[in-house]
Formats: sequence, C-alpha cells, structure tokens
Amino acid sequence: MIRLGVIGFGSRISDLINYPIREVEPDLRVTGIVDPDEPGARSRLADCDKQDVVFHDTLDDLVRRGKPDALVIGTRCHLHTPYAIEAAKYDLPLFLEKPVANTMEQAAALERAFEPSKCQVVVSFPLRVAPLCVLAREYIDEGAVGSPEHILGLNYVPYGTAYFDHQYREYEITQGLFLQKATHDFDYMMYLMDSSIVRVAAMAAWGRIFGGDKPAGLRCSQCSEADTCLESPENRKRNRSSEPGGDHLCLFGEDIGTPETGMNEDSSSALIEFASGAQGVYTQVFYSRRDAATRGATISGYHGTLGFDWYTNELRRVRHHRPFSDTIRMDEGLGHFGGDLELAYDFVGLIEGKAASRTPIWAGIQSVYACLAAKESAQTRQFVNVRQVGQAGT
Ligand SMILES: NC(=O)c1ccc[n+]([C@@H]2O[C@H](COP(=O)([O-])OP(=O)(O)OC[C@H]3O[C@@H](n4cnc5c(N)ncnc54)[C@H](O)[C@@H]3O)[C@@H](O)[C@H]2O)c1
Repeated sequence: MIRLGVIGFGSRISDLINYPIREVEPDLRVTGIVDPDEPGARSRLADCDKQDVVFHDTLDDLVRRGKPDALVIGTRCHLHTPYAIEAAKYDLPLFLEKPVANTMEQAAALERAFEPSKCQVVVSFPLRVAPLCVLAREYIDEGAVGSPEHILGLNYVPYGTAYFDHQYREYEITQGLFLQKATHDFDYMMYLMDSSIVRVAAMAAWGRIFGGDKPAGLRCSQCSEADTCLESPENRKRNRSSEPGGDHLCLFGEDIGTPETGMNEDSSSALIEFASGAQGVYTQVFYSRRDAATRGATISGYHGTLGFDWYTNELRRVRHHRPFSDTIRMDEGLGHFGGDLELAYDFVGLIEGKAASRTPIWAGIQSVYACLAAKESAQTRQFVNVRQVGQAGT
C-alpha cells in the first residue's frame, strides 16, 4: 500500500488523488495531511481515507511521525516554494502543484534547494504529458516539420471568469496570469521545440474588461444590476456562457485591483525566442466563452506544419512538399486532455521506482523564469532575457 502525505488538501489536489491517481493505483491511502482547514480537507477525503488519516501541524511532523512513502503539495501558489524547499530535504518522491514559484526570489531559492537534493519531483504540468502533445513531439522527432523554426501557442480560455470571480482573482497569490496560466503553455512549447525560451517581449491588457469600481466584496446576490449583468448566475445560465454556478463575487469590483496595484490581465501575449534560434508567439485571452475555446499549438519548419487543438482533440499534419495531409483524432472525455492521468502514471511509477518524471523540478523552474520575464516585459515594454536553470548570474 502507498502512504501519501499531503500538504494543502484542496480542491485541485483532492480531485487528482481521488480520481486519476487512485485509478492508476487503487491500493493507496492519504495517511497524513497538513492543512489548517481540517473540516474542509476532511470533506474532500475519499471514504477509504477518512478513518485513519492523521492531521499534522507541520511537514516535519508529517514526515517523522506519519512516515509517508511520498509527498504531495497542493496549496495555493505562494506556498508551493516554501513547502517544496522543506520537502527537498526528505528525498521522498514529490508531486508539486504549479506554478512552482511566483517570484524570482522564490524560483532562485527553489533552484538552490534542489541542486543538492535527491528528491524527484513530478510537477503538475498535464499539458506537457497530454497524449496529443506527446504525439506532436514524436512527429517532430521523426522529422515531420524538418527543423522546428516557429511555434504559435493559443489559449482562448472559456472559463477565464474564474480568474476574476473566484479566489484566483487574488493577485498577491497568483501574481498574474503568465505565472498562473502560461506556465503550462510555455512549458509544453519548450518541450515541443526541445529548446528553452531565452528572450521574450510581452504585452498585457489590464482593466479594460474586468475590474472596475463596484464595491469590494460585492456578490451578485446583493447587486441591483443582476438582472441585466451578463455575469450574473441567471444570465450566464440563460446565455449558456459559463458552466452552471452559483452566487459569486463581482468581476467589476475594485478589489480585483488596478494596473498600478497589480491585477490579473484580460489578455496577454508574448513574442518568444528559443535557445535554438527558433521563434514563437503565444496569446492567452480570458474573456472568451463557449465555442471560442482553443488551446494548442502550430509548429512549422521548412518541411511541414503540425497543429493541434485540445478542444477539438485533433492534430493536423501537413507535408509542405508532398501532396498529403492527415487529421488525427483522439478519444474524448479525459481530464486535462488526458494529461492528469499521465501525471498520475508518472507519480505512481516514480514512487514504485519504475518510471522517471517527465515533468521534473527543472521544467517547473524554467517555466517560472520564462513567465517572470514575460511579466516584467509586459510591465516595462522591453525585451527581457530569461534566466536559465543552472546559469545563475550569467
Ligand atoms: N496543474 C493544474 O492544472 C492546476 C489546476 C487547478 C489548480 N492548480 C493549482 O492548484 C493550487 C491549489 O488550487 P485549489 O483551487 O485546489 O485551491 P484550494 O484553496 O482549493 O486548495 C488549497 C488548500 O491549501 C490549504 N492551505 C491553506 N494554507 C495552508 C498552509 N499554510 N499549509 C497547508 N495547507 C494550506 C487550504 O486550506 C486548501 O485546502 C493552485 O496553486 C493552483 O494554481 C493547478
């Protein structure tokens, strides 16, 4: 039986443990938890874990007294680094939520902590290991495009309101949507191009759609404009513009922040240069809905173009110099486009000593360095060089 110790047993990590990880290894128990919200965490436990789980005040106590076989960090973003730095001391297999850090100080400290550590990490990057992305990389390796010279990454998020009417609106925790969202996309784009991002020029639009002057803490249930507002639960339901949901915080509230104090962006984009010399473009849009949903990439070289979209679940392969084009379809209905199940296989494989992580700590840190450079570039309107893992100070 695998004994898991979990730090921050919140909504994302409980879903991942209770479904894909348990699907891969049913003989697994959550035996220890560090989470100040014990009733909330308990309510998310599977029946088989409720009886024996022990709540601990600290990670050290969880490891010493609870003797887990592996650790999982599922807290919100600002706590990933401090807990991961502590976890690095124990050499236990670690599953770490993204973004692995949310400031340069955190990312650099994380890199220093893991340099001497034997702790193997599965960073929670489902897109890199999602089957459609892996297939694209296999085709690239087989020469489908020749030398990959350009990549276009698109992310039209159909549930982007979650970054404004839910706890992800808290900028001091998210530090903006390059770190919160593009960390996945920059990571899988580097994987596909087999090259690190070394320079970015980014732009972001803040406060043009979301944010505003409605009172802090206002909810739709208290708002006199709920009948006409497109974001009220009633109108979202009627217009089929979001997943059904209940009362929520106002998307036009002053507590979302301002461009000066910091706030999540309505949309943001980056021009990207890779170490190989290849170039790319990435765009993420958070007010799109319904059939506007798109997430995926187009990779081109002299010999061909590959493009895939996780929402249509299709990969298109075009040969530039032969009269053949293929469209490949993938099965539907898998969490995070099949990536969560693949992360579960990697984590269980790591614990059982049968597999290596495909999303190691270095991938998590390198992606954060690219996101921090994009964030800085959008603020300063300058090209910014991306710090590279292993090259501090150069
Ligand atoms: N990889 C992905 O695709 C993906 C998807 C969704 C969310 N996430 C990430 O997952 C993380 C968690 O998001 P969530 O929506 O599950 O949040 P959540 O609020 O549901 O979960 C966080 C948990 O941490 C606990 N916590 C708070 N302070 C703590 C502390 N000091 N020590 C230990 N635990 C503490 C909370 O009580 C809560 O149970 C975020 O960083 C988010 O970016 C990743």
